[in-house]
Amino acid sequence: MRYLLPALLLFITPCLVAQNISVYDLSCEHKSNPLGLGTVQPRLSWKIKGIQKNILQTAYSIRVATDKNFAAKSIVWQSGTINSAESVLQPYAGSPLQSATRYYWQVKVWDNSNNSSAWSDIAYWEMGLLSPADWTANWIEPVQSSERHMPGLLVRKDFSLQKKIIAARVFVTSHGFYELYINGKKAGDEVFTPGWTSYNKRLQYQAYDVTALLQQGNNAMGAMLADGWYRGSLAWENNWGIYGKKLGLLCQLQITYSDGTKENIITDNSWKSTQDGPVTLDGIYDGEDYDARKEMKGWSENNFNDSQWQPVTVAGTDKNNLISTQTVPVKKIQEIKPVKIFITPKGEQVVDFGQNMVGWVKLKVKGAAGTTVTIRHAEVLDKLGNFYTDNLRAARATAKYTLKGGEEETYEPRFSFFGFRYIAVKNFPGTLTAENVTGVVVHSDMKPTGTFECSNALINQLQHNIQWGQKGNFVDVPTDCPQRDERLGWTGDAQAFCRTAAFNMDVAPFFTKWMQDIAADQDADGKVPFVIPDVLRNKSTSAGWGDVATIAPWTMYNVYGDKQVLITQYPSMKAYVDYIRNKSGDSYLWKGGSVFGDWLFYKSMRQTENDGYTSPDMIATMFYAYSAKIVAQAAAVLGNTADEKFYNDVFEKIKTAFNKNYVTAAGRIASESQTSYVLALHFGLLPEAIQPLATQFLVDDIKSRGNHLSTGFLGTPYLCHVLTANGRTDVAYDLLLQETYPSWLYPVKMGATTIWERWDGQKTDSTFQDVGMNSFNHYAYGAIGDWMYRVCAGIEIGSPGYKHILIQPHPNKKLHFAKAVFESSYGTISSAWEIKDGKLMIRVSIPANTNATIVLPVKDMAGITENGVPLATAFKNIKQEGAGIAITTGSGEYVFDCGMVTDK
Ligand code: BGC
Repeated sequence: MRYLLPALLLFITPCLVAQNISVYDLSCEHKSNPLGLGTVQPRLSWKIKGIQKNILQTAYSIRVATDKNFAAKSIVWQSGTINSAESVLQPYAGSPLQSATRYYWQVKVWDNSNNSSAWSDIAYWEMGLLSPADWTANWIEPVQSSERHMPGLLVRKDFSLQKKIIAARVFVTSHGFYELYINGKKAGDEVFTPGWTSYNKRLQYQAYDVTALLQQGNNAMGAMLADGWYRGSLAWENNWGIYGKKLGLLCQLQITYSDGTKENIITDNSWKSTQDGPVTLDGIYDGEDYDARKEMKGWSENNFNDSQWQPVTVAGTDKNNLISTQTVPVKKIQEIKPVKIFITPKGEQVVDFGQNMVGWVKLKVKGAAGTTVTIRHAEVLDKLGNFYTDNLRAARATAKYTLKGGEEETYEPRFSFFGFRYIAVKNFPGTLTAENVTGVVVHSDMKPTGTFECSNALINQLQHNIQWGQKGNFVDVPTDCPQRDERLGWTGDAQAFCRTAAFNMDVAPFFTKWMQDIAADQDADGKVPFVIPDVLRNKSTSAGWGDVATIAPWTMYNVYGDKQVLITQYPSMKAYVDYIRNKSGDSYLWKGGSVFGDWLFYKSMRQTENDGYTSPDMIATMFYAYSAKIVAQAAAVLGNTADEKFYNDVFEKIKTAFNKNYVTAAGRIASESQTSYVLALHFGLLPEAIQPLATQFLVDDIKSRGNHLSTGFLGTPYLCHVLTANGRTDVAYDLLLQETYPSWLYPVKMGATTIWERWDGQKTDSTFQDVGMNSFNHYAYGAIGDWMYRVCAGIEIGSPGYKHILIQPHPNKKLHFAKAVFESSYGTISSAWEIKDGKLMIRVSIPANTNATIVLPVKDMAGITENGVPLATAFKNIKQEGAGIAITTGSGEYVFDCGMVTDK
């Protein structure tokens, strides 16, 4: 028996496992275990795994309770068995949820092979303060003797808690940035709170679990405040105080005692303030000055003598604009050590971190009190190897730390950020070593979801650069650049890059929030400002920029299958197109609608003045058509057939007007630039017969430039897609692999570690482009990333949210292999191809509860096997599709041996 039991188990276990499916990665509103949720009917998602192939969910059951043990009286929703294949974003349908309450939940599922899972691990979400009336706290404002550049603001309060605490949550927001401390410890690990929104209409609050920071007895709480995006200068020096001229704090600490009673500690007139904190200057562009001699030991702890502090003012600011935090917070994500410390020809001490990054430097220093160490930031060195900051324009981009003296001191800025690879350190006491400086990378805490790699090291570096461009510019809003006096939510850049962004990282919460700011800042007539949040306030829009209002929601809907995005954004999407309709009237041509044109297209010296240039009016009409089409498609999803018909009709009319005005019968398009062909083809504006002709003109132009592109922000994202869609993936590869400028790999060859704003930001002789606008961390041209995932490796959306997946790799002999992995809402999708000894192998992984169509790039299926089995035996559903063989299947791992590659 002793020997029989393990043998028996060995036998039984695989059977059990084979029967089993399990549920994992539970999330609520795209987040795992969120606190402070503002959605009254949160949507729940889960992933399924099992060892069999073709797993499809047939039913699920959810239970939700206020008690972790799901005791009967704590259950608020017991869904019962719901026959449904949906496992993503399923709405809570139990009794009404209460403010500031935690809800535990579990799900179990059944599948198409009569398997059922066990209850999943327990996940939870916690509600925020659901109505303005839940806020008993008042806005407080510290005494501020000046409205501008008023650093050093601190507020504090002592309080005592008499009973045993079992839970404490703090709900907090501010005008300006805040850092909240309880008993000397920071609440949460977020930075730049409360984030950046259209503050006057939408101000996020944060919720932190601070149970561990409190104690029975005496406590204290304090906050540092800074200008941030609320009051600081943005875009230009005199553009400050955009949202208000006074900084303030709103804070509500809710404590639950072991006897079930509750108590709130709130901001009110019992708080005190000082203007004498250690931060002596702060500004998004300026950086931060910090005088450690002014630190007040124990200021956010009990027993601190605040008799010199002044009372705060209780401000009447209303609370109707408060919203829970919709996005993922900005955090310190990683640390980087220097690769080199050296003296430049000009004699400056410079540290090279080897990576253009965004965040700041953590300094460790020991020296005499009053010594000020200055850290300046730069992205590049000049031709001679000197520290180069001209491209930062008016941004001071400097951190200054004044020592208090004594023991080793550690300092990191908290109210500003820098875009840099190099720092110049001045006045460092003693010898500066790698131990003294650490790069702290700061960005929105998005889950990484995608990887792409291939046999070409330069392309792998390009992918690295794209991801770092995303890290550096997804700092609560999608910014154009992180270093110069700009760092704004430029809409054109974001629409160009959002599809690629959604491969690399989970950007659902990030864009959910930002898109609502688009709607909030949209003019009453439907115009979409250049930047969101709209701090330029110049009442203009531009084609290709304003279209973010349609392109971003449509993209997010397709990537995440989140219909709510469309429901929420639809009025804004439609208003934007209606704005253009009003402008263009019966002509269906939008004249004067493009301010920026095909921004930063590459203008060569070879021919005429207009080389590479695309008519802005034509661009405007083309984007008008594209946005009208998207609105029609969104209307279809929302079941609004009247709008669907109406906007499809608008699209057709624009198409007719466009062809009449800009296209010849021979397929030439006005301007004859690459972008003109790319946009016309990508937006479906050309009659079928003309498409091959236009494609040929595009290819001819590329070839005439020696396989170089000339596109700007608007044409670039679609360039390679258009070539692929029109049968010229070979030319797309020529462009991708091009190493001389203009190309994606030229900056890589020049040592770039992020995406540059311009194709030729640094010339071959190491001189720079126009200092007025030359960022080395601008993600727009990184939009090639989505072609690498979708076409080269071949992971494509088959139906919204990847419920149906299209795998269609495009191997090319110029590479030996390519592989992409993407974590979808259903689980991991991967697609990899390899050409080895002339033979093509394709490996695919499809997650449970999805279907896939896998298109193998082969002409016929003879001799092709999956895992050694001939295709016709392995699959029921096979058909010829275009130039490939399409297999429809379900979840599982597949290895296809496609035989010898003959024709590529
Ligand atoms: C920004 C861009 C932006 C552009 C609009 C620039 O200053 O950096 O990326 O889209 O202005 O033309």
